Amino acid sequence: MKGLILSGGHGTRLRPLTYSQQKQLIPVGNKPVLFYAIEDIIEAGIRDIGIIVGPNKEQVIEMVRSKKWDANIEFIHQPEPKGLAHAIIVAENYLKNEPFVMYLGDNILKEGIVEHVKSFLNSDAEASILLTEVSNPEEFGIAQLNEKNEIVRLIEKPKKPPSNFAVIGIYMFRPAIFKAVKEIKPSWRNQLEIVDAIQWLIDNGYKVKSAFVRGWWKDTGKPEDIIHANRLVLDEIKKTENNGILKETKINGRVIIEKNTIIENSLIKGPAIIGKNCKIANSYIGPYTSIGNNCEIIDAEIEDSVVMEGTEIKGIKRIVESLIGKGAKIVRNESLPKGHKLVIGDNSQVRI
Ligand code: TTP
Repeated sequence: MKGLILSGGHGTRLRPLTYSQQKQLIPVGNKPVLFYAIEDIIEAGIRDIGIIVGPNKEQVIEMVRSKKWDANIEFIHQPEPKGLAHAIIVAENYLKNEPFVMYLGDNILKEGIVEHVKSFLNSDAEASILLTEVSNPEEFGIAQLNEKNEIVRLIEKPKKPPSNFAVIGIYMFRPAIFKAVKEIKPSWRNQLEIVDAIQWLIDNGYKVKSAFVRGWWKDTGKPEDIIHANRLVLDEIKKTENNGILKETKINGRVIIEKNTIIENSLIKGPAIIGKNCKIANSYIGPYTSIGNNCEIIDAEIEDSVVMEGTEIKGIKRIVESLIGKGAKIVRNESLPKGHKLVIGDNSQVRI
């Protein structure tokens, strides 16, 4: 079996961050979202992984190659993000008639995919999709099942949902999908939709099974999703691991502090993670906060937030539920004229 991870797409809902970085590289719990997918696929025993890359492909390649993986990873260029089913067409030569698991590179799943891959390979189904129960089915792709848990119909964002079983971004396929993706037509948003390809399989008599995931699942497509995913991931920290230097500092709860980070006269409440080479002084870092490498946080308070590497926060009280990109500077204005002095990229959001 092979793995196919989708790490293309424009990520428009995550602007301005995605003007400069591919969305699957945004860190959650100080780890690029994409790495969770790679780890899950390797954990399921798959050793050949193709990663679909599009805009910012060099960044994705460099980030993936910065780590040693127990797998052969190849990059497959999708010239334009024309949809999830289009990505399968682009990867057909790589996948070469083998079964494969397709994993959207912006999805995170608590329990991984080990049992689902096993159960698919032991079945005679042509496809298997993973489902989770949601309270707001109107906002998801929803599956209607028969009594054998086989899929009868998939409906995108239904006004009258037939169930609250949402389709998540992890799918397993056998080669009939290559026919399906070529038979379907582009949707109203001019994309080849994976939902349409799976519906084609069902309508043409192929068996499509489903399985429910255990534990949480998160799609990190929007800023609030990243903050939510960060909470879920940090909640998994089991115990405090301090590799930094603490002076007059109190740690409450489970906190990971990485090498060469110096924290003085501060209070850190877990679950939280603080990267390498950070300087934190006279500050409060509250629960559900991830601070990337090389950050400086002085005379500040922050909680429930993701702060990316190389950011400076000085004299600011208090930052909550925020997503702060790399190398940002958020400092108190001590000079005249008084007031907020902003240099903000296109499509940024600031609530003061
Ligand atoms: P989307 O979340 O639909 O990705 P997007 O980049 O189009 O986001 P937005 O709507 O904010 O503009 O896609 C799900 C995943 O699949 C995501 O990881 C990006 C990836 N993808 C591709 O690799 N190729 C594609 O053609 C598309 C549409 C998405």
